[in-house]
Amino acid sequence: MSQPALLTEPGLTRIGRPGDPCVMVIFGAAGDLTRRKLIPALYNLASEQLLSREFAVVGLARAQMTSEQFRDTVSQDIKQFATGPVDSDLWEWFVRRMHYVPGDFNDPAAYTRLNEMLLKVDKDHATHGNYFFYLATAPAYFGPVIEQLGKVGLVKEDERHWRRVIIEKPFGRDLESAKALNRQIQQVLDEKQIYRIDHYLGKETVQNILAFRFANGIFEPIWNRRYIDHVQISVAETVGVEQRGSYYDESGALRDMVPNHIMQLISLTAMEPPISFRADAVRDEQAKILHAIQPLSSEEVLLKTVRGQYGEGISGGQHVPAYRSETDVPPDSRTETFVAMKLQIDNWRWADVPFYLRTGKALPVRATHIVIQFRRAPFVLFRETPVENLTPNQLVLHIQPEEGISLRFAAKTPGPVMRLGTVDMNFEYADYFGVTPSTGYERLLHDCMIGDATLFQRADMVEAGWCVVNPLLDVWKALPPRNFPNYAAGTWGPKEADDLIEKDGRHWRNFEK
Ligand code: BG6
Repeated sequence: MSQPALLTEPGLTRIGRPGDPCVMVIFGAAGDLTRRKLIPALYNLASEQLLSREFAVVGLARAQMTSEQFRDTVSQDIKQFATGPVDSDLWEWFVRRMHYVPGDFNDPAAYTRLNEMLLKVDKDHATHGNYFFYLATAPAYFGPVIEQLGKVGLVKEDERHWRRVIIEKPFGRDLESAKALNRQIQQVLDEKQIYRIDHYLGKETVQNILAFRFANGIFEPIWNRRYIDHVQISVAETVGVEQRGSYYDESGALRDMVPNHIMQLISLTAMEPPISFRADAVRDEQAKILHAIQPLSSEEVLLKTVRGQYGEGISGGQHVPAYRSETDVPPDSRTETFVAMKLQIDNWRWADVPFYLRTGKALPVRATHIVIQFRRAPFVLFRETPVENLTPNQLVLHIQPEEGISLRFAAKTPGPVMRLGTVDMNFEYADYFGVTPSTGYERLLHDCMIGDATLFQRADMVEAGWCVVNPLLDVWKALPPRNFPNYAAGTWGPKEADDLIEKDGRHWRNFEK
């Protein structure tokens, strides 16, 4: 069968060019992430002509399977997990490049077999000796897999070929373990070979924070303490812990969401303009912000943070069982499923501008948004609307599932009397750009194939994220919660989360359905 015409002309811009010829090796090839996200994302890249014609996949997992059986499995899965229609010719082309090696991640023999398979695949698909290894495994394997790859020489680069490793989250479970993991993998890999993934950075709306701030001249001049009163970041989920009870109970909302996803949102919102869009220029500025977040003292943890765990309730019209009744969760679990906090960034741009953050499971809506609240007008001429009653100007970056930007401001309500009302001006992605099917992993995989690490975490950034949450982990461990569960599923978390912001005379902006 003839190959679909994939773009390979030289001279395309960086953005539009296909990835380099390479093999993607997936550790954990039989797992959920591979089936639901990675394979559909690779297929989407192929259909957007962003995958090299000289590309192959080698899956590695414990399950005993031949390459043929692996192809059958992924061909079944794609029917369920594709983000759009699947073209049978393109799929046929794609699936022929998939291979499989069964093996235990701790067994040196598996790496010898992998090495042999790679030599063959590299020759058959002309992938130029370029390999990247995607660790879609439990975190306990990150270090051991990389050590074994080092031992068999699979991550050694030379001027003719590159070798890279993508590491999933969670990267450590506190500052100490993250540092230890960095030390361990840096003995084998150069930092430039390490791609620590955070899938939030694969979201268009998250990437758009940079475009919005730095491709427009009108926002930057007011993006500072003179004009901004405070910033709120909410990452609300309606789901409970579903089938992930055993992972989640060890992790909790703080570790699961804050040092990674929420720190990305803060750093992109608060960073200084980078001097270029080169990976280290952007990441240097992000890292500076993370370092500038004031670590909370033990007293401040008590005053400026809130934790919660859901009890049973109704969410989206459905009965949701209490967290403690979920599968694989101990009935006396003290793990938090909600966290809120108030942080300050110590620099000239943000001094005295609080950042309020909250995230939780079993909340009333699924909605991630960043609210930039501006200072109110100093004086209002209109007698009917005293200054205290004016709704403040808010710019909202809607990250998901709504994707867009809205600006709230005051307008005269029609009529003979001068009265003010609140209006919203809305931009929605879908209205302008349509909706491109996506898993959120396409851009990140493609970036790895072209060696662009801008949207991946450097060691210092990961450690800086843990520095922010470590004081909370310490204090919360020393003082186990006594009032869990303290919010009903389907509500906006414990009352203390409202108090946290309301005692400063401010309010969370909730987006209901
Ligand atoms: C993951 C967390 O990293 O992100 C999950 O482990 C969470 O608990 C998920 O549900 C949220 O991702 P998204 O893309 O659905 O916002």
